[in-house]
Amino acid sequence: MTATTTLDNPAPTPTRRDFLYLATGAVGGVGVAAAIWPLINQMSPDATTLAAASTEVDISGIAEGQILTVKWRGKPIFISHRTPEEIKEVRAVPLNELKDPATDQSRVQKPEWLVVIGICTHLGCVPLKNEGPFKDGGFFCPCHGSVYDQSGRIRQGPAPANLVLPPYKFASDTKLTIG
Ligand code: FES
Repeated sequence: MTATTTLDNPAPTPTRRDFLYLATGAVGGVGVAAAIWPLINQMSPDATTLAAASTEVDISGIAEGQILTVKWRGKPIFISHRTPEEIKEVRAVPLNELKDPATDQSRVQKPEWLVVIGICTHLGCVPLKNEGPFKDGGFFCPCHGSVYDQSGRIRQGPAPANLVLPPYKFASDTKLTIG
């Protein structure tokens, strides 16, 4: 039953026992905060981690038809310098033939450069470059046979989605910043 405070029925004076409960509650709160702080502190990124949050890549040495792998935040990133034929081929594919429809134009910033996270969207294996039915410029995941085209779009096999695009920008014509 809830106690009601009126002029006839003044609020009860807190007993020593109530005070002890209140004091225990307050100490408990401080104790939990003190125990959690090292954990929160440990979770904040230090300067080294922040520096690794983005990776700068010199792409001037990647010849047409070559695919370079770099590491960004522990993940493989494929940077593919596509040939005019590869670009023409992926742009000619009707969207209704794709499992995860996306135009090639929506997946690249510059037609000749494809930048994708090299992790198969099925179960996370790292696909092989320049392998599989699309061979030149395509990707093949030997784990269960997923095939990606030169735009990193899923074309065959169990993977449900296209290779994921990382955040990136061209700092210049020859420098790419990933992250
Ligand atoms: Fe790539 Fe299964 S993990 S096909």
